[in-house]
Amino acid sequence: MENPYLPIIMRVQRVFVETEDGMQKSLDLAFTRPSDEAAFHFMPGQFCEISVFGKGEAPLGIASSPTERGGTLRFTVNKAGLVTQALHQLKEGDEVGLRGPLGNAYPLDLFENHSVIIIGGGFAFTTLRSLLVYMLEPEQRGRFGEISVIYGARTPGLLLYKEELERWEARTDVCMHLTVDTEFPGWTKRVGFVPTVLKEVAPSPENTYAVMCGPPAMIRFTLPVLDELGFPRERVYTSLERRMKCGIGKCGRCNVGPLYVCKDGPIFNYAELEGLPREY
Ligand SMILES: Cc1cc2nc3c(=O)[nH]c(=O)nc-3n(C[C@H](O)[C@H](O)[C@H](O)COP(=O)(O)OP(=O)(O)OC[C@H]3O[C@@H](n4cnc5c(N)ncnc54)[C@H](O)[C@@H]3O)c2cc1C
Ligand code: FES
Repeated sequence: MENPYLPIIMRVQRVFVETEDGMQKSLDLAFTRPSDEAAFHFMPGQFCEISVFGKGEAPLGIASSPTERGGTLRFTVNKAGLVTQALHQLKEGDEVGLRGPLGNAYPLDLFENHSVIIIGGGFAFTTLRSLLVYMLEPEQRGRFGEISVIYGARTPGLLLYKEELERWEARTDVCMHLTVDTEFPGWTKRVGFVPTVLKEVAPSPENTYAVMCGPPAMIRFTLPVLDELGFPRERVYTSLERRMKCGIGKCGRCNVGPLYVCKDGPIFNYAELEGLPREY
């Protein structure tokens, strides 16, 4: 039996700074063994445990989409503490460990033939990027109805994936609403918090799924707006973040009530979370 705690070895292929304050970097990690690459199958929403040898392990959502081939996986890392700081210091050619893919994925089968509104805030856009890239892939796009995105950050420089945001804005098959908290020199797009923009955009709840990921305050104020708009909570999905250790449902570090975020999640709909302790 394979040891689930044993990481595979990945090599850092590319490191780039995402935000102007340098707190978020993306790392493209390349498989070092073709057999590992062949065995690795994931879907948007899943995460991996990434280890920096001698420092420790951290769970990170997979920011790339399974439709992006090329032998690498992308992770976008917010510098928070010991492990994420060590990840920020890595250089091209360095090696890290990876366990995964772990957890569940966005329920793309349910989204089929429905419209999808993606709502993101700050640096939590990572697995939302994976989802969006996947749904916009020519082979996949026809499965879904209207796709729209509301994505906000405090300032323009703190938005992730800036070049891609521009490319997505230029497309006619996705409706992008980018926003920053306050007026900013040179910013000609929306100004306002994500929940306010959601109110303005007022997507119809008919036949639509909402997918949300962002800081707790954004989630707290966005959920009531979705309620007001009439979105049933079964059709509102979010990704939970908990402290984790094993990532595979063994250590009990990540539970919310009876649910293990690492194995039952990290993706849940709000109907599933209702009645659970508000630890998330
Ligand atoms: C399923 C999942 C997906 C995630 N995806 C990403 C991602 O794509 N990019 C990213 O940058 N981060 C992501 N995180 C959060 C990331 O795992 C933590 O920031 C990281 O583990 C911190 O490790 P550290 O050793 O650097 O910090 P530590 O020294 O352990 O902690 C530093 C600070 O971060 C807080 N913290 C630690 N772990 C978490 C956590 N899980 N949730 C919230 N706060 C935490 C601590 O309370 C402390 O304040 C994800 C977490 C989960 C559970
Ligand atoms: S992290 Fe160990 S049970 Fe979830």
